[in-house]
Amino acid sequence: MKRLAVLGHPVAHSRSPAMQNAALEELGLAGEWAYEAIDVAPDELERRVRAMPGEGFVGANVTIPHKEAALLLADSKSREAEAIGAANTLTFRDGAIHADNTDAGGLIDVLPGGVRGRRALVLGAGGAARAVIWALAREGAVVDVDVWNRTSHRAEVATVELGGAPVTDPKQSSYGLIVNTTSVGLKGEDPFGGLLPLSADSFDREQIVVDLVYGDRPTKLIEAANEAGAYTVDGIGVLVRQGARSLQIWTGHEPPLDVMEKAAREGLSR
Ligand code: ATR
Repeated sequence: MKRLAVLGHPVAHSRSPAMQNAALEELGLAGEWAYEAIDVAPDELERRVRAMPGEGFVGANVTIPHKEAALLLADSKSREAEAIGAANTLTFRDGAIHADNTDAGGLIDVLPGGVRGRRALVLGAGGAARAVIWALAREGAVVDVDVWNRTSHRAEVATVELGGAPVTDPKQSSYGLIVNTTSVGLKGEDPFGGLLPLSADSFDREQIVVDLVYGDRPTKLIEAANEAGAYTVDGIGVLVRQGARSLQIWTGHEPPLDVMEKAAREGLSR
């Protein structure tokens, strides 16, 4: 058996096992490969990861709060993972650990073709934001990447390291692409009551709005953007694309995106 897993803390809520096992089934690999969720406390991560190859694991996704630590314990790193400073994908090969970051490519994959030449606003400057800022500034073909964060100093540091420019008072209507990487909305918070520099009635139909947050229902951010006729992508859309890239790294197979998306969404509405 070739084993795969997502390592996180907490990890019980993760949609990755359902999504990846559905993909393995569709590809006819389910008898040979299996994907599970493993809750690992931060002080256990290194010991747990180093034990995995001996237990039949071929690879792992890594999620909150382990992405930075995972990069540090890898023997080799992709260009993206190194630049972003975080890894979400580990591959165990020939006794070594290789680190990739598929969050950046996953974000680019969900964006529609018309993103070229737009001005982008990234909300947040944490771990998730780093992959987004790097992806947009290097690969996204957007014109400007402005980064707003509640704690403005973090936006300054992130832009120095990754590209883009910090912004403290962004004008919502001047952006063609808006990406929320903050955790606002995760617990149903209203992003328009002052938590984010956005207002519900200032979206328009020309904009692309991406919210990395996902939950049982559409976030208030996605609802407001949809109402204005914007092109929206929710957190599941991004989850599917990063997971697809990880699956391709491990198995070499073309991932069945529709099957993955359906499986990822199914558990949410119950
Ligand atoms: P992740 O790895 O998911 O990005 P993180 O590094 O803890 O997690 O970053 C969380 C992001 O959400 C940060 O940009 C954080 O802003 P601060 O840097 O000011 O902490 C943002 N965030 C969390 N709660 C927020 C809130 N209530 N209002 C605005 N931003 C918030």
